[in-house]
Amino acid sequence: MATHFSQERLRVRPSSREDAVVASAREKFERTLVSAQGSLVGSVAALAHPRSHDSLNYGEVFLRDNVPVMIHLLLERRFDIVRHFLSVCLDLQSSTYQTRGVFPTSFIEENGQLMADYGQRSIGRITSVDASLWWPILCWYYVKRSQDWEFGASQKVQRGVQLLLDLVMHPTFEGTPVLFVPDCSFMIDRPMDVWGAPLEVEVLLFGCLRSCGHLMEIARRDRSSRLLEQRLELTRQWIHDLRSFLLKNYWVTSKTMQVLRRRPTEQYGEHQHENEFNVQPQVIPDWLQDWLENRGGYLIGNIRTGRPDFRFYSLGNSLACLFGLLTAPQQRGLFRLVLHNRSHLMAQMPMRICHPPMEAAEWMNKTGSDPKNWPWSYHNGGHWPSLLWYFGGAVLQHELNHPRADALLMGQVRAMLEECYWSQLNQLPRQQWAEYFDGPTGTWVGQQSRTYQTWTIVGFLLLHHLLRVNPADVSVLSIDGPP
Ligand code: GLC
Repeated sequence: MATHFSQERLRVRPSSREDAVVASAREKFERTLVSAQGSLVGSVAALAHPRSHDSLNYGEVFLRDNVPVMIHLLLERRFDIVRHFLSVCLDLQSSTYQTRGVFPTSFIEENGQLMADYGQRSIGRITSVDASLWWPILCWYYVKRSQDWEFGASQKVQRGVQLLLDLVMHPTFEGTPVLFVPDCSFMIDRPMDVWGAPLEVEVLLFGCLRSCGHLMEIARRDRSSRLLEQRLELTRQWIHDLRSFLLKNYWVTSKTMQVLRRRPTEQYGEHQHENEFNVQPQVIPDWLQDWLENRGGYLIGNIRTGRPDFRFYSLGNSLACLFGLLTAPQQRGLFRLVLHNRSHLMAQMPMRICHPPMEAAEWMNKTGSDPKNWPWSYHNGGHWPSLLWYFGGAVLQHELNHPRADALLMGQVRAMLEECYWSQLNQLPRQQWAEYFDGPTGTWVGQQSRTYQTWTIVGFLLLHHLLRVNPADVSVLSIDGPP
């Protein structure tokens, strides 16, 4: 599938309006910030949407939408807002028996009262798992960047970490290191057949456990205990097992596929482990052959007995680079794959959330005929400008850590990133910083898209910062240990 868009059609011409666009994005971003308990706490999901009189929840502070917001604030050294956000989230961590340790999907202050949604108010009554996994990661980013070790070691933070670990590291029926979740439990929060062990959740679990480990290490400096030591040891082991599990079962290249296709099936017994999930070669989709090219690689969307999900998910793959789950050569394999499939993944509005979309009968069965997740729309193959900076961050972090690696490839990836940046800069202001884009090329503003979506605005600002202001600041995103 060759790249068939000419430069002209890609709308990538440098624009002299760069400064004006950045200034106006900044001004809009400031308007998304809201207060709780008397001080700024984070951003609402969107400033406006086509039917703003509806009682939809885009006026709430979503934890996942605030990930880029908090990182942007860290880079601006507005540490007090980030600390307040983390602290309010902790106050809202559930303490009821069945959900103990869960962080809310979103919250808002109404008439002086904090109201949180753990899923009991959302459309379809969905529980998010990603919000809980993001909290320790954001907390570690904050502690590392601001050097507020005291907050990191505080009783309040440490208690939150232990509650969360109780929730994710517990005995299960099947003893693998992954976290099992229902459909719709992360950024993709409408039915998309992403139940089980979806990539994004498992990569976030990896980042979460690494961050919890670092936070516990700071506390150990003040006061050690046998319990803490045990927890640290268990966490380290879990991180190691989880990483091995994901690299073994999710990472695919043209080479690994050729092995997988010829594996034995119907294997019984502990010592036969070439095909533990009993995957039949017939389930391998046709599109994969060209998609993988010779030297490309990526993490597939999910592994389930007999039914791997081969779809490509942009966020899980980008985070796997940022969190250090993929090795450096694997990261370059991923960059090669994105370059090769640029006409799909970037097209007119970078970047597509999930590829390929489910069509016709599959869409009907697996999404429950969800009209919002129509083929090529929203989560089902739609394009989300908010996803580009994660991929850009992965590329820039790789450049920073491995400055001399594969100059030819990295030059091409960097050029693609620049063009994607221009493409957003030239279109987004006119398209009112829309939430998502529809159609095979991502040209049309999403049919039910809100406008002035916060993570679209702040994602652009982050990419601008990393490309133009200070590329070395990408280090804010790494999950390295304490100095
Ligand atoms: C939609 C998206 C979800 C996002 C929320 C607020 O529900 O699917 O990922 O967090 O909107 O923007």
